Amino acid sequence: MPNIVIAGAQWGDEGKGKIVDLVCDKFPVVARYNGGHNAGHTVLIDGKQHILHLIPSGILRPGTLCVMGNGMVIDPGALEEEMAALQAQDVEIGPDLVISDRAHLVLPHHRALDALAEEQRGKRSIGTTRRGIGPAYEDKAGRRGLRMGDLLHPARLPSKLEEARRHYEWIARGAGVEADVDWDQLVRDLTAFASRHQSRIKDTSLVLQAQFAAGYSVLFEGAQATMLDLDHGSYPFVTSSSAVTGGVASGLGIPPTRIDGALGIAKAYSTRVGAGPFPSEIGGEREEEIRERGKEYGATTARPRRCGWFDAVVVRASVRINGFDALALTKLDVLDDLDEIPVCTGYRCGGVTLEDPPADLSRLEECEPVYEILSGWKESTRGIADYRELPERARAYIDGLAEMVGAPIGIVSTGPNRNETAFKRDSIITNWLGE
Ligand code: GDP
Ligand code: IMO
Ligand code: MG
Repeated sequence: MPNIVIAGAQWGDEGKGKIVDLVCDKFPVVARYNGGHNAGHTVLIDGKQHILHLIPSGILRPGTLCVMGNGMVIDPGALEEEMAALQAQDVEIGPDLVISDRAHLVLPHHRALDALAEEQRGKRSIGTTRRGIGPAYEDKAGRRGLRMGDLLHPARLPSKLEEARRHYEWIARGAGVEADVDWDQLVRDLTAFASRHQSRIKDTSLVLQAQFAAGYSVLFEGAQATMLDLDHGSYPFVTSSSAVTGGVASGLGIPPTRIDGALGIAKAYSTRVGAGPFPSEIGGEREEEIRERGKEYGATTARPRRCGWFDAVVVRASVRINGFDALALTKLDVLDDLDEIPVCTGYRCGGVTLEDPPADLSRLEECEPVYEILSGWKESTRGIADYRELPERARAYIDGLAEMVGAPIGIVSTGPNRNETAFKRDSIITNWLGE
């Protein structure tokens, strides 16, 4: 079995959790390579809903080794809350959940700095999840961050925290706000966390190398998505990690040559939470209808997601940047009622039509979306699990999108449950999975 990466092709919330859960019974190991508890991956199993924020979705399949990579940023309190919530749902969390000793910590001052930065930005605020993600990656890049491995030596924590503390207090003073982190309490909390979890904290590059050597395949799970990627997304309206497939190698300490295939997840339309350009945003009542039908409310913050038509410009760029061999198209059922479905094929801007997202957002703000109108199918696809049973016009929509973005669509999701999924026969995905 090959090692496969699953990553988001749009602005997040494409249904990565559902697809990871669906295919991960074939993978003894699932490894997350980026992000923190800004992510919310929803998995529905036998009517029971689980939302994963930090822990790889493989935790729901007993016996799967779950790796939290060095590319992640981890809030110890959020991790323990998530573990408790899963345990309350009878999910067992044994020694098979391992955490990279090089993963950075999200600490209380990061949350304070996140809120402060958002307030300072005023009208240009990003609409972050306010979980402290950006400031944690800033401390990492600024070389003053604390890492999971530091927790293995609690006596050194106060001095290790010094530089981050000084930096935070310096910013708070400049902003004229009170720096109100209780550092002594933080050291006690981190020490207690370490005593509960020290056996999980490992060099996960070595853990993965041993898995490869034993012949086990790994599923790499991405959080966020290409348009939220720090380098390739709509900067500055992005998150602070490498969400694209290129982030797998650095985010897990494995060679890129270990990645055998890439599966992109794309919704049959688009959604975006938070601010930033969104050329195919629908607006008005039609957007409201799609939001309600698709239950488009954030899994982490419960904010209403903005809804747009499928943006082939974005997904085509995602296919290029991530090297997606195939796509899974999710939430097709949400479009069942529509007579016609617009698909954005380009951005019209100053007399020219752009076919790739521009780096310059002020240019994007002047663009008008160019739409191709595809026909709707006006029948229920909900729960269809055999590709050949999809209405002909739904298949024409799927084929149309695949052609526009330049990648085959091998999985179509028609509902949130595991069994509401249609695999296209003899695709690269069924090949990977040995089906
Ligand atoms: P992720 O962050 O990419 O894992 O996606 P989220 O879990 O944040 O959001 C996807 C939402 O859509 C979840 O509530 C899923 O249960 C739901 N979902 C996934 N696939 C489908 C589908 O094909 N149809 C419908 N109606 N809902 C789906
Ligand atoms: P999953 O993995 C959708 C968005 C936030 C905000 C921007 C920056 O569930 O797809 P941050 O808190 O990361 O600094 O916020 O990124 N964002 C997401 N949007 N899905 C996600 O994750 C997201 N993670 C962050 O809404 O616009
Ligand atoms: Mg989500």
